[in-house]
Amino acid sequence: MPGRALVIHGGTGYGPNKTVLSQARRRLRRIAQTCFTFLASHSSLETVAEAVRLLEDDPFFNAGTGSYLQRDGRARMSASIMDGHTGRFGAVLNIERVRNPVLVASRLLGERDRILAADGARRYARRQGFGDWNPVTAERLKRWKLLKEEEHGTVGAAAIDDHGRLAVATSTGGKGFELPGRVSDSGLPVGNYASSFAAASCTGIGEDIVEEALSVRLVERAHAALSIHKAFQKLIPEIKARKRRAGAVGLDRNGRMSWGTTMPILIAIGVTGRGLKESF
Ligand code: GLY
Repeated sequence: MPGRALVIHGGTGYGPNKTVLSQARRRLRRIAQTCFTFLASHSSLETVAEAVRLLEDDPFFNAGTGSYLQRDGRARMSASIMDGHTGRFGAVLNIERVRNPVLVASRLLGERDRILAADGARRYARRQGFGDWNPVTAERLKRWKLLKEEEHGTVGAAAIDDHGRLAVATSTGGKGFELPGRVSDSGLPVGNYASSFAAASCTGIGEDIVEEALSVRLVERAHAALSIHKAFQKLIPEIKARKRRAGAVGLDRNGRMSWGTTMPILIAIGVTGRGLKESF
């Protein structure tokens, strides 16, 4: 067995602002270290849900509380989780007024209907005891009023546990200022996918990620090349040549991690028994 490993990200498309990057580093480090300890006594599936829950609760990131707002000024969030061991995938798309979309997606893993959208997702969440929560922060409302344009950001986590089981979870408030009804990659396997060989979580412009089927192809190529690193080395330049704006983090069953982006900066941190590794 390769040993435990965890990689988390807070999205891509960040500029070179040192204050923002050092804030991101501090927040990601804390969550990565907490969740690596958590992984010692929990499965990879439980750990990716916990990591994404903590990222959703931090208003710095565009997921859960602090989600970007859509064109009509409302926050509609999407999240998914996949168990590479069982091949199960659960997701919510465009859910409103819940605190942790990733926990609703996790709950759906046990259901026959595992991908729910909009009002149906919210009603399911309420039936399952997830209370009413307003994820809109004053800061995001201010930016929405001022900018009225797309922004970037998504959060995600991939992990492998002591049993060699891989899992992945991803959550987002979307790309910001999108049309209500637009579907994000973060609630689909193309943005969040795991097998028994590898796991990948995407960030960037959802339409580009969907058209490249990015997570699925990273995982499949990792399997074919027997390394997640080789999959990234091959696929990221390919999608860059097609002018896609996307990035991802990944982990393979040998506990090796990798990441890549076609956009300015991807903020990601990986942890193994040998210590921390940072992308920025
Ligand atoms: N990757 C997040 C989104 O485009 O919705």
